[in-house]
Amino acid sequence: MFLRNCWYVAAWNHEVTRQKMLRRTLLNEPVVFYRTEDGRPVALEDRCCHRHAQLSRGKLVGDNVQCPYHGFTYDPSGTCVLIPGQAKVPSEARVKSYPTVERYRWIWIWMGDPALADPAKIEDFHWMDDPDWRAQGERLQLKGNYVLLVENLLDLSHLTFVHPTTLGTDKIAQTPMKWEKLNTGVRVTRWIMESPAPPFFQKAGGFKPDENVDRWQIIDWTAPAFVRLDVGAAVSGTGARDGNRSRGIEMRNLNAITPETDKTTHYFWAQAHNFKTDKPWMTELLYQNVHTAFLEDLEIIQAQQENIEMRPDAPRIDMTHDGGGIAARRMLEELVAAEARTGLVRCLVGCAPAGKYSEGSHGSGTGFDRPRPHHGWDYSPPLARDRRRDRRHRSVPAVRRRDVRRDPRRLAPLLYRAVPGPDAQRTGPDALCGALWRARQARDQA
Ligand code: FES
Ligand SMILES: [Fe+2]
Repeated sequence: MFLRNCWYVAAWNHEVTRQKMLRRTLLNEPVVFYRTEDGRPVALEDRCCHRHAQLSRGKLVGDNVQCPYHGFTYDPSGTCVLIPGQAKVPSEARVKSYPTVERYRWIWIWMGDPALADPAKIEDFHWMDDPDWRAQGERLQLKGNYVLLVENLLDLSHLTFVHPTTLGTDKIAQTPMKWEKLNTGVRVTRWIMESPAPPFFQKAGGFKPDENVDRWQIIDWTAPAFVRLDVGAAVSGTGARDGNRSRGIEMRNLNAITPETDKTTHYFWAQAHNFKTDKPWMTELLYQNVHTAFLEDLEIIQAQQENIEMRPDAPRIDMTHDGGGIAARRMLEELVAAEARTGLVRCLVGCAPAGKYSEGSHGSGTGFDRPRPHHGWDYSPPLARDRRRDRRHRSVPAVRRRDVRRDPRRLAPLLYRAVPGPDAQRTGPDALCGALWRARQARDQA
């Protein structure tokens, strides 16, 4: 269950360099990252269109990547610009190129339709580089599905049991939480009033073991898997719940969770604080404590994943604390299903259905099960008039092969948002794919 038309964090900015290309699997797709000579991050499909070698094992030639096997060379747009020993480079020779943005110390990637990639849609993580805050974090590898981690962060009653030496106290699990649906996500709020501070807060905020604090956890989830926690504590009775946090400490726990495969996850997180910002040891202390706690989470979730794989359909019993997690999962499922519905359906050249329609299917995220048709193109929403033609959105008009052959440019309007799928180049040159590709280019150049 992947949402594709959204921004994901792909790497910390220091991981993407010119010295060494970075290979990373995202949403089941291999991607290679590098920087151009002027420092711009580039993300390309890490699978040469010739014989599928890993480009990340090749080398950079200026802003281009040279495949380590037979030397096909690709520019940052994914177009093959050189085939050694061959004068003409077929227009089909290319790999997928993904839009990227460097922001908040991370490299963001758009895995869906490039035409929809708008940097303004990147989630707000300004605490990462805000001068009034300090933040330190890392990437952890989770051997588990990303939604399990979202559920973990949306129900902090587990702190009592999983993190008793760092973040948890007995009272957390006993304290009810409130959840609400926001326009773009879900918010879970919990106030733990008049109770001792956990060990981590005692160290960070200097609270005494016998001193009671009012502690807050305000957790915002947005799709597909961004979780920002506003957490902190203040001396009880000083008005923190009414907005006066001056007698306490305030932090943000920032989580950008990116699926690697159906069963594994890249966990980018950081802990930010706005007190003692001139003390690097405080930033380190907070990071270390949360790091310890998160390793405990990963252990639990990985074991959970093992059980789920043994019997995926085993029933689950829900409890009150699950409210936020359930709402988020439902919202995510709806978004993925909506994307799948518009992620259509019949091959434009009419030679084969583009795959079995399966709303919400795992894997491709486009709503189609593999195998794809022989040329492997993905199609996103058809034009309005095509929608009218088939109100159930089950097919786009099948264009006859002979029309394609006669004049590919006539198809240009229909190719709106037709993008090569992961398999588009795998099966080698195909006359019809070539025609489609040229038509798309003709449209782009028009
Ligand atoms: S596999 Fe890349 S050039 Fe042959
Ligand atoms: Fe946890």
